[in-house]
Amino acid sequence: MNVPIKYELLKRLSAANGKPLSGQQLADDLNISRTAIWKHMKQLEEEGYTFESIRKKGYILLSTPDTLDPAKITLALETEHFGKKIVYEKILTSTQTVAHQYAQEGAPDGTVIICEEQTDGRGRLMREWKSQKGKGIWMSVILRPDVPPYEAPQFTLVAAVAITNAIKDVTGVRPDIKWPNDLLINGLKCTGILTEMQADPDRVNAIIMGIGINVNHESEDFDEDIVHIATSLKIASGKQVDRAKLVAKILFYLEKYSKQYIEEGFENIKTLWEEYSCTIGSRIKATTLRDVFVGKAIGITKDGILQLQLDDGRIENIYSADIELQK
Ligand code: BTN
Repeated sequence: MNVPIKYELLKRLSAANGKPLSGQQLADDLNISRTAIWKHMKQLEEEGYTFESIRKKGYILLSTPDTLDPAKITLALETEHFGKKIVYEKILTSTQTVAHQYAQEGAPDGTVIICEEQTDGRGRLMREWKSQKGKGIWMSVILRPDVPPYEAPQFTLVAAVAITNAIKDVTGVRPDIKWPNDLLINGLKCTGILTEMQADPDRVNAIIMGIGINVNHESEDFDEDIVHIATSLKIASGKQVDRAKLVAKILFYLEKYSKQYIEEGFENIKTLWEEYSCTIGSRIKATTLRDVFVGKAIGITKDGILQLQLDDGRIENIYSADIELQK
């Protein structure tokens, strides 16, 4: 079934808010036969949507499946163009790898690659990223800002602010941001962001924004090696979270804040980032490729670089590091 008819059908049934819509009315609206409507309804049932069919009155949408079906995301989407192209698969090696291919082939700004399960999900520094089936949000968004390559890291901070707002809106729980790319709840990691790019020396062609969120995991879903450092939105909020709604909200804020960053600069994002940060003001250990620094994180620069005040008073600029919050 192609997404547009399915989407139009679901849009109408969902907007009817529990009132039945007749097969004839749907057929007239969508300019297809009643038999075609019936076939689409059967197909939707196979995908996990449930309907009540009332004789002589029509269909009522009862429930939608717990999937990241693009039709479900689209129903909740409030963006101008982010998420208008969604590539959805049940299983992928890594949405990041697939998004790189799409970006190379010219996929437009705001294209989303998303799946239910990754077999080879990866985090920063080529670490493994566990991506269980149907539990989380594993997606990569292709951004095409007209910026020089040195501005790409700021998009990690843009994404961190966007995802924090989206999680707050959808679950009522507000994560803390740990510089540069982790979201924590009660000190435990619920989200990781992996920013990669394709660029010429003076221009970014594409930013591939990889987003991994532990959404509906129970603690037993986490492997032994990460159970003491990881959490999920369900554990934190005590409620099952509608993943498709959360994806739509993330895309909304990601579009809004990317646009704001490009048009107005970093100032507002920096203010929001600092408000949400658990790094600023804390004593931290920063392990860079060459050195280990310990000191107090005093702020980020207008370029998103972390500033650390060392014990001897010197200020060290941290461009990229692993951060541990110290007691
Ligand atoms: C990190 O914390 O190190 C970043 C983790 C990023 C994980 C996401 S899941 C979707 C996308 N595909 C991947 O293989 N990685 C990113």
